[in-house]
Amino acid sequence: MASSPPENTLLNRLDRSALPRHLAVIMDGNGRWAKSKGWRRVRGHEEGAESVRVVVRTCRKLGIRALTLYAFSEENWARPKAEIEALMRLLGRFLKSERQEMMDRGIRLMASGSIERLPKGTRQLLGQIMADTAGGEHMVLNLALSYGGRQELVRAARRLAARAAAGELPPEQIDEAALEGELYTKGLPQVDLLIRTSGELRVSNFLLWQIAYAEFYFTDTYWPDFREEELAKALLAYANRERRFGQTGEQVKGEID
Ligand code: FPP
Repeated sequence: MASSPPENTLLNRLDRSALPRHLAVIMDGNGRWAKSKGWRRVRGHEEGAESVRVVVRTCRKLGIRALTLYAFSEENWARPKAEIEALMRLLGRFLKSERQEMMDRGIRLMASGSIERLPKGTRQLLGQIMADTAGGEHMVLNLALSYGGRQELVRAARRLAARAAAGELPPEQIDEAALEGELYTKGLPQVDLLIRTSGELRVSNFLLWQIAYAEFYFTDTYWPDFREEELAKALLAYANRERRFGQTGEQVKGEID
C-alpha cells in the first residue's frame, strides 16, 4: 500500500537544506506561563520539560546536528531552594525517561557548565547517560547546566594560561582555534540560530563566544507553549535570512567576487 503523503504542516514544508547546524535556545517564560493561569511556577517548568521533549524529537527528525538548551544558568542558583530542587527533579526525570529514546535515535547527551555544582545524584545520572549515549552519531543534545558564558571564557583563559605556564603552549600560538578547544562546546559547530522565548530581548550570558555570527529569533511565546509549530516558524524565519559573515550581499549571492 502506498504511504500517505506527509501532512501539509509548516514543519513538512521546511527546506531541509536551509536548517541550522547548531540551534541554541534560551527557554524563558515558564514562570509567567504558570502565573498567567493562576498556577505555581513549578507547573510552568513541568510543561516546559514537555516542550524540551518535543523540541529535541523534532530537531532529531529534521536532522539538526546540535541543539543546546539553556536549562539552568549560574545565576539561577539564586532562586528559591524549593524551585532549584524542583528543576533538578525535573531534569532527573527527563534524563531517565529519554535515555532509551536517545540511545535508539543516536542522540549524544552532553553537558556544558559547572557540573560540579550540581547535586551529586544529578551529576551521577548525567554522567551515566552521557556514557550510555556516547556512541550517538546523529545529533548532540547539549544541556547548559549551571552555565555562564563569561565563566566559560574565564575557564578557557585559565586553561590556556596553565598550558602556557607549563611550557606546552607558546603564547603566540594562542588563536581562536586554541580558545575554542577549551570551551565546553569543543567540537560542536558554531551556533547558527539562537532562539529566545517569552518576549525578552537579551542574551543573558549564554554562549557568548559561540553566537558571534548567529541569527537571533525572538518570540513572545512562553516556553511551555513553544512546540512543533513554533519551532517550525523560527526555522522558516532562519531559512529566509541572508547570512553575510561580514561580506556584501552581492558577494554572498556570487554576483561579484
Ligand atoms: C526560564 O523560565 C526557565 C528556566 C530557568 C529553566 C528551564 C527549565 C526547563 C524548561 C524544564 C526542565 C529542563 C529540562 C532540560 C528537562 P523562568 O522561570 O525564568 O520564567 P519567568 O521568566 O517567566 O519567571
